[in-house]
Amino acid sequence: MIKLIKPSEKYFLQYKEMMDEWLMEGSRVDPWPLDLKYHNKEYFKQMLKRVQEAEIGENIEEYPSSTTYWLYEDEKDIIIGCSNLRHYLRGETEKIWGHIGYGIRPSQRRKGYGKLLLKLTLEEAKKRGLDKVLLAAYVGNIPSWKLMEKCGGKFEKIVYEEETGLPAKRYWIDIK
Ligand SMILES: CC(C)(COP(=O)(O)OP(=O)(O)OC[C@H]1O[C@@H](n2cnc3c(N)ncnc32)[C@H](O)[C@@H]1OP(=O)(O)O)[C@@H](O)C(=O)NCCC(=O)NCCS
Repeated sequence: MIKLIKPSEKYFLQYKEMMDEWLMEGSRVDPWPLDLKYHNKEYFKQMLKRVQEAEIGENIEEYPSSTTYWLYEDEKDIIIGCSNLRHYLRGETEKIWGHIGYGIRPSQRRKGYGKLLLKLTLEEAKKRGLDKVLLAAYVGNIPSWKLMEKCGGKFEKIVYEEETGLPAKRYWIDIK
């Protein structure tokens, strides 16, 4: 069975295996919790602490509080991907990136897991009381905005990231 789980200490090896693969392959690492150091138990625990604090709105600076999920397959005992659900929008998330960030590890792409991860995360958004969700991806990140379109995203507009000037496409998904 494939399901969302919350990050937890008992998955250190499974997480390390996913992230080692991702970093060696070299493609974009997203959402933000995946950028945190993880490669020994100490760093891994610090990463979990950051993620748990973000969920209750502690030490988040200008970012919104958010919940992180891992897409986990129990038969194979592997983590397939990760999503981050922002509870509300402010700052950069309001201007561009929206409510949900997601990523699928390189070896598991193009198998429908991106769609599954987004669908399950949208269900969590609905449970939190959101009735529409904003998503965005760089114009050049074709797999990501195609995935948004496949999941019912309605294109809103292109916005430009302040820091890089790169264009990003924004989409809304109705989850009422
Ligand atoms: C974006 C990402 C999550 C897609 O995950 P995935 O598991 O490969 O997606 P799926 O297999 O569910 O594919 C969903 C749809 O996306 C599109 N798609 C996915 N990969 C694609 C590619 N390489 N080229 C073109 N379209 C692609 C297809 O339309 C596909 O639907 P289809 O299979 O019915 O044609 C994955 O590429 C990824 O993790 N990228 C790196 C992190 C990232 O960029 N995250 C998003 C930041 S905004």
